Parts: sequence; structure tokens; C-alpha cells
Amino acid sequence: MSTVHVLEHPLIQHKITYIRDVTTGTKEFRELVDEVAALMAFEITRELPLQEVTVKTPVSEAKAYTIAGKKLGLVPILRAGLGMVDGILKLIPAAKVGHVGLYRDPETLQPVEYYVKLPSDVEERELIVIDPMLATGGSAVAAIDSLKKRGAQNIKLMCLIAAPEGVQMVQEAHPDVDIYLGAQDEYLNEKGYIVPGLGDAGDRLFGTK
Ligand code: URA
Repeated sequence: MSTVHVLEHPLIQHKITYIRDVTTGTKEFRELVDEVAALMAFEITRELPLQEVTVKTPVSEAKAYTIAGKKLGLVPILRAGLGMVDGILKLIPAAKVGHVGLYRDPETLQPVEYYVKLPSDVEERELIVIDPMLATGGSAVAAIDSLKKRGAQNIKLMCLIAAPEGVQMVQEAHPDVDIYLGAQDEYLNEKGYIVPGLGDAGDRLFGTK
């Protein structure tokens, strides 16, 4: 079974509080999501392997460390996942970015893939699937299915806020995928919103309604 990491860093928790606040406007919401995404990337990359290198300082040679050539890939689920990409790229500018677009079929209520574009060497990359809200888990499971179908072997899932229902669905469908959250909330309401959540992440990020 995969591990669920709730990232309890005080800065992450503080900023998520303002992200939740209904009075936070689009500009500030977007900036806060960007900042939290960067802080979450900091936590999620804690275990990246290092290699020893030598660097010449103005004073002498120093033994130092760089990240040991791990190839990372970010895969936002369209559209709300886009709001977290730039924040992560600030810390990991060399990461490649793929995209997965899904919509919910109004009759079957199942996610349907309408767009997938991934780095060509997807099987060699450590991929981070990004979606601010893990609600039913349907989109995350479908996006991860889609990556695995194309050869991906090493996948993590990163979300701002999750409902227990979504966490359970991802863990059952993809027990190899560790989940990184800013917060785990109480439940999904009858309209599919996470409670207390933050409302519709895509609408709040892009100023739509
Ligand atoms: N998607 C959102 O944007 N918000 C929710 O609460 C659930 C799904």
C-alpha cells in the first residue's frame, strides 16, 4: 500500500488557510497556490539522491553535492493542475512538463481522456502528477492509468487538499503511487466538493465561474 504524506510544514499550513478563505481573490489565490506548490516540491524532493562533486571556490577546492541526474517530470491534470506548475519549476527548472486533459462524461460520470502529451522518455522519469483537489479520485486514477499505459514506472501524486474517498480510491487502484498532500479534509458533499475544501480550484485560479 502506498504512503500518504500530509506535509505539515507551518508555511504550507499557513498559506493553505488563506487559499481556503472565500474572501481571497484570484490574484492572491494564484500567488498562494504557486508558493505552496514550491514548498510542497521542496518536501517531495527530500529523498533525491546526491552525488559528490568538486567545486573550486575563490578560496580552495571544496567537496560538494549536486542532485545525481534524476530525471523528473511534472504532469498537471488540466486545468487546475496548471496552477501548481510554475511554483514547482522555480525549484526544479529542468523538469519536463507533460499534460493530461480529462473531462467527466455526463452520462457515465467517468473521466474521459481528451489530451495527453508526455516527455518521450516517460519510462525513465520520476513523474509527479499534480492536481490541487483529490476529490473522488477518478481523475487522478485515470491520469495515472494513462501514464502507466505509456510506460511510466515511477509516479507520485501531489495535491493541495484531498478527501478521504479520493485517497482511498488512488491507494486501491495504484498502491505503488505515494500521495503528497497539503491537507486531508473531512468528506465529499453531494455535489462532489471537498468539505471544507476551498471551492472549485480551477475557477478560483482562473477567475471563471
Ligand atoms: N474539484 C475542485 O476544484 N474542488 C472540489 O472541492 C472538488 C473537486
